[in-house]
Amino acid sequence: MTLEGKRAVVTGGTSGIGRATATRFCEAGASVVVASRSEDAGRQVAEELGCEFFQTDVREYDQVVDLVEYAVETLGGLDVLVNNAGIGSVTSVEEMELEEWDAVIATDLTGVMHGTKAALPHLRDSGGCIVNVASIYGLVGGHGAASYSAAKGGVVNFTQQVAIDYARDGIRVNSVCPGFVDTPMTDDLLESERFQSFLQTNTPMNRAAQPEEIAPVIAFLASDDASYVTGANVPVDGGWTAH
Ligand code: NAI
Repeated sequence: MTLEGKRAVVTGGTSGIGRATATRFCEAGASVVVASRSEDAGRQVAEELGCEFFQTDVREYDQVVDLVEYAVETLGGLDVLVNNAGIGSVTSVEEMELEEWDAVIATDLTGVMHGTKAALPHLRDSGGCIVNVASIYGLVGGHGAASYSAAKGGVVNFTQQVAIDYARDGIRVNSVCPGFVDTPMTDDLLESERFQSFLQTNTPMNRAAQPEEIAPVIAFLASDDASYVTGANVPVDGGWTAH
């Protein structure tokens, strides 16, 4: 599987799944712009991977437009957008502050729409594609995760909707739906014995994933090997949604 010649943007590309994806893309021959809010982390990752960095908060549409314009100018066009940036939340609807709902929806759902809206004209030019990072909690309800499940469920259906609207323009749109992955987002959770027991009970493979086990699926969906795949929400979950 190659991404030779592909010009890609990965949001939230400085840690976890985004960083593993940017690494995998670079190894497969893609030119990459990683986007994140932190300038220090962004510059460091760009230097380590030999890619570009653009400081972006995905909640702000103008910043996402600037990111896409930067990628198009620097890389000479855009073939792949990975809408990966996100924040977690494990609060039930009664316990949740309204600010938390707004923050999660703004980042995890509206951020995906911002990237999609900004990238589509360029993806039409290149016959490119989008890969969204959703979650198992977009496919099934997430225990005690009201805003996160709502946002990721939105991403799953948005993926299908945009795929339908733009298939005739030659643009493919898919998502991956990871189970629990060992990243900075889940550090605290994975340290808890109670959570480990919950995870193992619900995951037939009996463990969390490493980000490097999610990145190859994203890379496949971004590659020409997936030329007939669109509107798919692909579980990468150790069997969570199968049982
Ligand atoms: P992470 O915390 O390592 O990475 C998230 C990245 O998004 C960070 O680089 C962070 O700075 C960035 N980010 C957050 N808000 C942003 C904003 N407003 N603008 C720009 N960048 C922003 O966590 P992880 O796990 O790698 O998460 C990546 C994606 O994977 C997220 O969408 C998450 O919801 C999803 N996911 C994670 C799972 C897990 O168990 N870790 C499971 C399923 C999905």
